[in-house]
Amino acid sequence: MTPPARTLVTGATGAVGSAVLRRLADAGHDVYGVSSRGGSAPRQFAWRIGAEEPPRELRGPWDLVVHCAANTRWNLSARRAERDNVAPLRALLDRTGPRTHFIHMSSSYAIGLTGSVEPTEVEAYRNTYEWSKATAERLLTAERPDVDIVRFPIVMGARPDGALERYSGFFWLASALCTGAVPALVGEEKAYLDLVSTDDVAGYVGELAAGGAPAAPRLSVLGGGDGALQVGETFDIALDALNTWRAERGVGPLLRLPFVGTEQWNRFYLPFAQEYLDRAQLLRVTAFQAYQSYLSMTEPFEATHQVGDITSTLYRSVRRWADLHPETATRIPQPWRP
Ligand SMILES: NC(=O)c1ccc[n+]([C@@H]2O[C@H](COP(=O)([O-])OP(=O)(O)OC[C@H]3O[C@@H](n4cnc5c(N)ncnc54)[C@H](OP(=O)(O)O)[C@@H]3O)[C@@H](O)[C@H]2O)c1
Repeated sequence: MTPPARTLVTGATGAVGSAVLRRLADAGHDVYGVSSRGGSAPRQFAWRIGAEEPPRELRGPWDLVVHCAANTRWNLSARRAERDNVAPLRALLDRTGPRTHFIHMSSSYAIGLTGSVEPTEVEAYRNTYEWSKATAERLLTAERPDVDIVRFPIVMGARPDGALERYSGFFWLASALCTGAVPALVGEEKAYLDLVSTDDVAGYVGELAAGGAPAAPRLSVLGGGDGALQVGETFDIALDALNTWRAERGVGPLLRLPFVGTEQWNRFYLPFAQEYLDRAQLLRVTAFQAYQSYLSMTEPFEATHQVGDITSTLYRSVRRWADLHPETATRIPQPWRP
């Protein structure tokens, strides 16, 4: 009988890493989790990878490493993005031998504005997060012939109940709908907004782990591809989920926000906003600008592994977010006036 694979999951307290860790543990792996601050579950260790030595329990060798740790913020300096998303990868590679199957979590958006991870300059990407994810992919393909790189788009919760360990970027939009933080949705109603469930990612990592390391770098892209939801559909589903949740609690419905094209927003609304809005309003509008190009993608990602319909998972994930953020989800948005 072969012993269970000794497996390290980094970023194990995060949205993706926690689902991956559960899936591999269920499949019989001997799993250890690591995150910067550590977790409360057994065998969840604290290790700031790239910044300090690992605790004794986390010294190798490993049969499998699934690298989910990252700083996913979009507004980091290039130096900080390098430090948080590339230096930890280097440190891990230095500690894993040729017999370790290395599975790296990347993002569909790592191909930036040019459709490729090859450009080295920051300007080829929407932000330093994308740039650092592309840098990490280039480093891996240069140094690890047997690496698995898995790209995927925005992550929703588990398929059965929408459960998600952590709520990031996308859910700021749900919050913005409830608080009235933004006056309009800037983007293209018919653009693609690709979403996957943590179950899709964790299940696929489980399949890769069972199959073993490839002979040459292998890139997988998960997503809906050309079957992905459109931006308008996504917001309608999210709004439906929020309004049903609110109605069950006797709270009035949120109105559908109008869509404003990017060009129109930048040429007409933004100059007006800069002149007339107060500082708090302007800060929210500026934060919202980071989403524009993500809501305007008219070309779908080319998925090598198409995931199932995401509609009910999106609905459940938004409801779940509301369950956990009742104060925000029951807010009555204030009308926007300068
Ligand atoms: N969420 C998405 O929509 C999405 C979409 C596409 C790709 N991805 C990719 O999927 C991966 C996981 O993302 P996520 O959404 O699960 O992120 P997340 O929820 O923000 O979790 C990040 C995890 O990484 C840990 N971490 C960060 N830096 C670390 C370091 N230097 N050493 C040790 N642990 C560190 C964090 O620990 P602490 O909390 O203790 O700091 C946390 O456990 C990332 O590679 C991300 O780029 C995510």
